[in-house]
Amino acid sequence: MDTEIILQAEGLYHVYESSAIDGNVVALRGLHVKVRPGEAVAVVGPSGSGKSTLLKCLGGLMKPSAGNVSFQGKQINRLTGPELVSLRQDTVSFIFQDANLLPDLNALDNVAQPLRHQGASAIDSRKKARALLQRLGMDDRAGGMPSQLSGGEQQRVAIARALITEPKLILADEPTGALDPITSREVLSLFAKLHEEEDVAFLLVTHSREVASFADRSLELREGRFIAQHGEDVDISDLSSTRALIIDETGTMTLPPEIMTGLGGPGRFEIESDSNEQILTLSRLEKNASPAVKGVKLILAPVCPACKHVYFDEVQECPSCGSSRPMVPE
Ligand SMILES: Nc1ncnc2c1ncn2[C@@H]1O[C@H](COP(=O)(O)OP(=O)(O)OP(=O)(O)O)[C@@H](O)[C@H]1O
Ligand SMILES: [Mg+2]
Repeated sequence: MDTEIILQAEGLYHVYESSAIDGNVVALRGLHVKVRPGEAVAVVGPSGSGKSTLLKCLGGLMKPSAGNVSFQGKQINRLTGPELVSLRQDTVSFIFQDANLLPDLNALDNVAQPLRHQGASAIDSRKKARALLQRLGMDDRAGGMPSQLSGGEQQRVAIARALITEPKLILADEPTGALDPITSREVLSLFAKLHEEEDVAFLLVTHSREVASFADRSLELREGRFIAQHGEDVDISDLSSTRALIIDETGTMTLPPEIMTGLGGPGRFEIESDSNEQILTLSRLEKNASPAVKGVKLILAPVCPACKHVYFDEVQECPSCGSSRPMVPE
């Protein structure tokens, strides 16, 4: 396996088992991911598309139903407990969607704790922790207990905690989700500095345009599959302009909504392909034609079916509740 890849996942599937009436939830449907050292990758997609599930599986916090995850060529399910712990301490840090601080330690000691774990002295660990908290505008709250801190303050403590061990890879789930725009920008500029000057790799889940534009590329997740990859400076409110379609290793392709619109909506298609020219031609089979072919044109829904948000842009996901935007007859 390529050791020039810091994080690699192959064929990740995850099913949340449930005995409830609505049954099991298939959250990941065969994902392949590669992150190279120093690369920043954003994962974007609507609420419920599987972003947090993916991150937890990648971080070894949850065992995927199927598939492998490797850090620097080492498959994590083949490591012993202590090996996994030391790999995590040396290489990877996490920033969760909810801060996950140790409730009995104040902000400063929460930040210092991972270094203490690695055997650093209390004085050195605290000194470094204080410097990080200062950079995140939290020096005056260093003595606060997690329960006394606001959501955004807790998030900043979690970020400082993740950075203190100088990881080579940071997995972050909505790292600026609870921050105001100014603090969020501070955090991003700190990330950008680590990325540019210290070659730290990032895999970030985000709904934020600014966070996504910090990344070298963005992977778009929908219903547990990557449907597209986007290049630098992606505008996540209009992913269509930079979209590169992905056909995954299982041969599954999920069409982005505007291509669906172009095709005239769902239906059955005959496929002609020329493997040399890598061209795929879809011809609609009339007898199973969708309403589009019967003379009804399908358009992107003008109103979100979930929260009734009125769309005024060509966006594909509801900016208000994150639902996927369906197609409806015109
Ligand atoms: N513990 C769980 N048990 C059962 N289903 C779950 C569980 N956690 C998540 N799911 C389901 O799995 C799917 C993916 O959830 P996930 O949390 O990964 O989404 P997400 O993309 O992170 O969403 P958000 O943007 O809202 O954080 C959703 O349908 C969700 O309801
Ligand atoms: Mg999530």
